[in-house]
Amino acid sequence: MNPTAPDATTTAVSRLRCINCGNIADHADQDFRCPNCGDLFEVFYPGWQTPQGQKAAGVDVQILKQLWRDRRSSFAPADISGVWRFRELLPALKPGHDPITLKEGNTPLYDLPRCARAAGVNALQAKHQGMNPTASFKDTGMTTAASFARQEGFRWVACASTGNTSASMAAYAARGGMRSLVLIPEGKISWGKLSQSLDYGAVTCQIRTDFDGCVKVLNELVRRKPIYLLNSVNPYRLEGQKTAAIELLEQLNWEPPDHIIVPGGNLGNSSALGKALLEMKDLGLISRLPKLSVIQAEGANPFFRSIREYGGEKLVPTQADTLATAIRIGNPASWKKALRVLQATGGTVEQVSEVEIARAKAEIGSDGIGCEPASAVTLAGLKKLVQQGFVQPYESIVLILTGHILKDPEFTLKFHRGDLFNGTAHEKDAPALAAQQRAPLVLDADVDAVLKTLDQFEGKE
Ligand code: F0G
Repeated sequence: MNPTAPDATTTAVSRLRCINCGNIADHADQDFRCPNCGDLFEVFYPGWQTPQGQKAAGVDVQILKQLWRDRRSSFAPADISGVWRFRELLPALKPGHDPITLKEGNTPLYDLPRCARAAGVNALQAKHQGMNPTASFKDTGMTTAASFARQEGFRWVACASTGNTSASMAAYAARGGMRSLVLIPEGKISWGKLSQSLDYGAVTCQIRTDFDGCVKVLNELVRRKPIYLLNSVNPYRLEGQKTAAIELLEQLNWEPPDHIIVPGGNLGNSSALGKALLEMKDLGLISRLPKLSVIQAEGANPFFRSIREYGGEKLVPTQADTLATAIRIGNPASWKKALRVLQATGGTVEQVSEVEIARAKAEIGSDGIGCEPASAVTLAGLKKLVQQGFVQPYESIVLILTGHILKDPEFTLKFHRGDLFNGTAHEKDAPALAAQQRAPLVLDADVDAVLKTLDQFEGKE
């Protein structure tokens, strides 16, 4: 081992700071709100400040990069995890406390040549966070926050969710020997996600309201009972989610892309990725900042409207509705954090229609990758950003795909059968999607029937 490298247990000393009033704390109340002003906390690392500038774990960035790479050949659980591998940039667990890990992170970066053509750019890459253990990006934040819940001795953890946070939380709680309580909007999350939280043993409550209504109930609940809140207002979640950006830059050999494009719902993920970019720049791990842009569904666009209509001065909650149920959110908790990172990186915000989302999802599928509907807003948004000239065709672009295609097979099946928009306001636009649709064919058990079908498809893409 390199004598100047931190040893395998090295982690960072962290504190909490309110993003509004700057109040500094070492411990948050159960609602994770600043007791002075009610705004959100973020984690910061006072020890990074040295007379020679910012340094994580007191070591040079070249040593850090080598250390993180070397851990890839280790069999220690914290080294195998694609989150804890970067633990010099994460809050430290107390001695004697191990992380709860499902070997999350280490997700692939794929080329998307067909999608690049569809968007009118020379090349396009996607980091697929749906390749995490519970099939969404939530696992990278859940390993950190659930580990802190266990360290603090909580028996119960809870979240309000559109389905992915709950699936992830239920899994990590089960692995960590804790009970979990899930509040989800009744009838508004995919069956795949609901079935995950049942199998992982969560107490799963379908509440007769939307996501924003579930958040209200949960906030009241944590004031009344000792339950650890695992929504993304919990700053330890965002620290784990940060590592997707660190890992991405490592995969790109620390050469920043020009653009990173991410879906926006509750806006925790964009905040986390942006925090990582800013920290990496401050620490000297990267020499320039990629522009981080957020895409929302038109039917769930409070952040888009906040920026376009009010210059980011305020956020007016909306009544959200979109078939991309993961981002069916009208009152995003982390909008101020997301605004800050958009401004700091020079990114932008865009909105896309239901039909644009459906088309983009099928295009990502046609590259052999696939994703859930909420992730596909990234490609749909990129197309608009190219048309507007915000993204140039020769620039390097990475989409963050947040969830796996199998999270919501009902959407995919309905799309290919051509009935996704039946009975909705978008029905009249649906014929424009015919070129992407591949309905399953029902044939007799007869080889000639199959051969005849093949002939029909010969020469077609
Ligand atoms: N993509 C997927 C697949 C999601 O599940 C979510 C959020 C987002 C994007 C948006 O990320 O909220 O950090 O801006 N899902 C949450 C949940 C709300 O409960 O699973 P965000």
